[in-house]
Amino acid sequence: MTNPLENPTANPFEIAREAAQLIAERTGVAKHDIALTLGSGWAKAADLIGETVASINAADIPGFSAPVVEGHVATIRSIALPNGKHALVLGARTHFYEGHGVRRVVHGVRTAAAAGASTMILTNGAGGIKTSWKPGTAVLISDHINLTAASPLEGATFIDLTDLYSKRLRDVARSVDAGLDEGVYVQFRGPHYETPAEVQMVKHFGGHLVGMSTALEAIAAREAGMEVLGFSLMTNLAAGIQDTPLSHAEVLGAGREAEGRISALLAEIITKL
Ligand code: HPA
Repeated sequence: MTNPLENPTANPFEIAREAAQLIAERTGVAKHDIALTLGSGWAKAADLIGETVASINAADIPGFSAPVVEGHVATIRSIALPNGKHALVLGARTHFYEGHGVRRVVHGVRTAAAAGASTMILTNGAGGIKTSWKPGTAVLISDHINLTAASPLEGATFIDLTDLYSKRLRDVARSVDAGLDEGVYVQFRGPHYETPAEVQMVKHFGGHLVGMSTALEAIAAREAGMEVLGFSLMTNLAAGIQDTPLSHAEVLGAGREAEGRISALLAEIITKL
């Protein structure tokens, strides 16, 4: 089945509204308050934040499709939080490197906004540039540099990105763990990891984390009027900062090792939102 977002004349916001409506029907939850996209190492948070009301196969929802990367899951879960709010966990991230276009990449965010969510939590696994961070460190995203040369915004849609990664939400996160550091996330297209020279370039122009997601989704969330909380799990030192080659197995391994701890942290932060 072809994805309706691949039809260039389709309205992506219309498809997001259809998706949100079906999610409301399938979950029985008319409005979700918070949405989460859980990247490498963060998946366990879904089990810790509350009680799962419904779990839907993402591929059944308009515009979504099954993930291509081992270690990623493809369900959309509705979770009742202890404070009475509802969270939508989007387990079906489409990455820009898959080559399906930006509309597919940001569809989860747009669907979450259409489902009523005013807070978007974006998490990922990333390479770290600061040597004071060790693999397994969770880092708040303070800002981003988008090196994909793409945008989810179409036409003359001029959106302010000041305070894109909400200072208010970062302060809430630090009220749970005062030791949380923050950094600038740099999204590359991937799927290759960066060269050591690219990592040095990032370091010189003020980046601290390198990865292949999040920035485009954050822009779409801001367009939709959502407040964004971004988190990276540093799974490895970036290429050339560590002297051994990078591997997907290393990234997944660091995620597995850290996931209980960082998921518990995220779950606690969510109780304060
Ligand atoms: N680079 C890009 N993406 C990543 C990395 C990295 O070093 N680690 C985990 N995801």
